[in-house]
Amino acid sequence: MATATMPVAADLAADVTPIPFLDLVEPHRAREEEFVAAFRTALRTAAFVGGPEVEQFEREFAAWVGTTHCAGVANGTDSLRFIFLSLGLEPGDEVITASHTFIATSEAISQAGGRPVFVDIDPVTMTLDPAAVAAAITPRTVGIVPVHLYGQCADMDSLLALAAQHGLWVVEDAAQAHGARYRGRSAGSMGTAGSFSFYPGKNLGSCGEGGAVTTSDAAILDGVRRLREHGQREKYVHVSEGYNGRLHAIQAAILRIKLRDQDAANAGRQQVARWYQEALADVPELTLPQVAPWAEHVWHLYVVRTANREALRQALVAARIGVGLHYPIPLHRQEAYAHLGYAPGSLPVTEQAAAELLSLPMFPSLSQAQVERVAQTIRRHFGR
Ligand SMILES: Cc1ncc(COP(=O)(O)O)c(C=O)c1O
Repeated sequence: MATATMPVAADLAADVTPIPFLDLVEPHRAREEEFVAAFRTALRTAAFVGGPEVEQFEREFAAWVGTTHCAGVANGTDSLRFIFLSLGLEPGDEVITASHTFIATSEAISQAGGRPVFVDIDPVTMTLDPAAVAAAITPRTVGIVPVHLYGQCADMDSLLALAAQHGLWVVEDAAQAHGARYRGRSAGSMGTAGSFSFYPGKNLGSCGEGGAVTTSDAAILDGVRRLREHGQREKYVHVSEGYNGRLHAIQAAILRIKLRDQDAANAGRQQVARWYQEALADVPELTLPQVAPWAEHVWHLYVVRTANREALRQALVAARIGVGLHYPIPLHRQEAYAHLGYAPGSLPVTEQAAAELLSLPMFPSLSQAQVERVAQTIRRHFGR
């Protein structure tokens, strides 16, 4: 996908054209007429929420992920919350997850009535450390939520084995991992259920909000379908209270069009990552992201580590290169979780990562010339 040729080094130094952190315009250019046609169809059929586009997308996304079922929902927080509610959390039930993630993961656990238990991550993959999970299991533990962060799957065999040993469920937060694989198995297909977000910046993003639950468990499918529709099984027959958590038909139509290109879009990200790995290999001050032996990484983010992160961030911003921090304050140190009582230093790998990580521009159409300019700015910053 990224095709521009590389200019000579002198051109790169002189170039101050902004390089965005993320480009959300370009991915919609090639198929703009199809998106407009989808919107026109929705207008002319008045199919706005639910309906055939949503059902068709659910079938196609389930087939792509490799589960029997998929239920489209309003966003990737609802998908987590509806899964946890369907699993029937009781007050005081403990759910083990990472602190190094977006707050939606733990928010959904609390809002479904459980208690998030934050554990440390593996320093190489930045995903749940199975040894830390094992150490955190108590008689109150009911489940494990691995987050396939930045586009790479957590160590699922170890986590699934632990879950089987202790009778726990596993829910995969795959919001950042559309199409990622673990030893050939697709993110969102390995646990009791998988949760996806289609927020615009995700690997598969809608043109608004969206989310999905993938599962081969009919009871979870039934629970999620009920909860997204005010607890109703049929119109105005409510077996419980629920939520307004439906996927919009226009977003489903857009997602159906984009899903056709998703493997190519992920391949574009993989090419960009290869360019970064080559261009930055000779900078000892940087730790580059690593791909675990089990992983097919889909590079939602390209995240490097360096001891003096702020100086590098400023150098990149001065060169008009967009950067991000994912995530600067770990969840266990957020004010929102002060009541859980995690002391500073309680999750050392997570805390060090939060202080050192810097996300570089990453999107499928980033060109080799742009990657080279980012790399050259970094090399110069470190005097190379
Ligand atoms: C790891 C993770 N989980 C959950 C979510 C929540 O998704 P959404 O923003 O669609 O609610 C996100 C994205 O924002 C995320 O990155």
